Amino acid sequence: MEENQFRIVLKKIAILASGSGSNAEEIIKHFHGSPKAEVILIGSNKPDAYVLERAKKFQIPAFVFSKGQLDGGEVTKKLLDAGADWVVLAGFLLKVPDNLITAFPDRIVNIHPALLPNYGGKGMYGMRVHEAVRNSGDGETGITIHLVNQHYDEGKIIFQAAVPISAEDSPEDIAQKVHQLEYKYFPKVIESLL
Ligand code: GAR
Repeated sequence: MEENQFRIVLKKIAILASGSGSNAEEIIKHFHGSPKAEVILIGSNKPDAYVLERAKKFQIPAFVFSKGQLDGGEVTKKLLDAGADWVVLAGFLLKVPDNLITAFPDRIVNIHPALLPNYGGKGMYGMRVHEAVRNSGDGETGITIHLVNQHYDEGKIIFQAAVPISAEDSPEDIAQKVHQLEYKYFPKVIESLL
């Protein structure tokens, strides 16, 4: 019998993020010590993104890249070389190029801070989404976790959860409600996908 025959192989998760990285932190914590998966690498297209501080805090290797490096395939190579099985977009604001999608078919997952197909598409991210929801007068918003394909926010939807909002809620209040849903569900949904 081979020594490693029954060893459970940890799935390796790479995270791409452009901003604060509070979702990235929840994912890191969720998989800390997990027998199923670990976060092995964090990449950001913003040199001053707070997610890089969080990576440091949890001693997770991190790197910064430009849009040119993303589109040119250098980021894909880095993720492949690191042995990533899954790529998680946690507040990542650049369009994912074909070379990355081809390298990780149905293995890239994104979180969107609204109930797609509403309030999705190019230019709809972060507070812009919550401002649009506020201006719509909708009585609820939510989160959508989906696989990534060539079109912004149009990949297969894996999970959605809604939260009521009231006329008194500011875009910041809405963002906070959405963040609570994200923290509650995103790590668990990732785990269910692995
Ligand atoms: C999250 O609310 C996420 O859903 C959103 O950016 C925020 C990042 O927060 N993503 C998008 O808008 C993607 N279109 P975080 O950096 O604190 O995790």
